[in-house]
Amino acid sequence: MKIILFGATGMVGQGVLRECLLDAGVESVLAVGRSPTGQRHGKLHEIQRDNFLDFADIESELTGYDACFFCLGVTALGLTEERYRQLTYDITMAAATTLARLNPGMVFTYVTGAGTDSTEQGRLMWARIKGKTENDLLKLPFRAAYMFRPAVIQPLHGIRSKTAWYQMVYDVAAPLLTWLHRVAPKYATTTEQLGRAMIKVARDGYPKPVLENADINAI
Ligand SMILES: NC(=O)c1ccc[n+]([C@@H]2O[C@H](COP(=O)([O-])OP(=O)(O)OC[C@H]3O[C@@H](n4cnc5c(N)ncnc54)[C@H](OP(=O)(O)O)[C@@H]3O)[C@@H](O)[C@H]2O)c1
Repeated sequence: MKIILFGATGMVGQGVLRECLLDAGVESVLAVGRSPTGQRHGKLHEIQRDNFLDFADIESELTGYDACFFCLGVTALGLTEERYRQLTYDITMAAATTLARLNPGMVFTYVTGAGTDSTEQGRLMWARIKGKTENDLLKLPFRAAYMFRPAVIQPLHGIRSKTAWYQMVYDVAAPLLTWLHRVAPKYATTTEQLGRAMIKVARDGYPKPVLENADINAI
């Protein structure tokens, strides 16, 4: 598989990138980001840019791919609804609309989150916007699209969150998260499990388009 990865410098994206580079079935990874991954690998190519709302200038470089793993995303904490929508809905749809037109055979996987509101009507701003993003992604003419809704994600293999206080929580709670992942698969997963599940679903498909945390852990 030839894969385009958005958000490769984030906690989730670093985990997904690691699994892609390790997987013999992944031929190449194109990381599209605003900052470098800092990694060198024969399978990895990178495009750095500031504009994530219009990809017209790099369309030729975004053509010929089998799957997109979209891990770019932000926490809603401290953001207005308008800003969170720009960073969540607008960026994701701009990329996905372009990719669907350029790669009709593509499988698109989007990392959203547990609690996403498919009705788009609920109380929680972030959940409504993620819900609208999911719903509109599922209408695009991809070969298939899958929405991954992880709950708490434990970073493994030295992967660190860029948000310092998140990382502090992960460090302190690491034993609890390891235990939770084992005994309560609804509530926690790992960067490794999530990355492997995204690769497997892109390769083999999945019976439903929305995967909850327990589904991700069962793959
Ligand atoms: N972490 C969790 O436990 C968890 C749980 C459930 C769901 N999720 C979801 O997973 C997704 C990724 O989360 P994460 O924890 O990996 O976040 P993160 O560590 O903060 O990484 C965010 C990624 O998005 C990129 N990004 C952010 N704003 C951008 C912008 N304006 N333009 C271009 N790139 C931008 C970042 O690039 P830079 O490196 O350049 O900043 C980075 O690659 C989010 O949608 C989040 O809601 C996370």
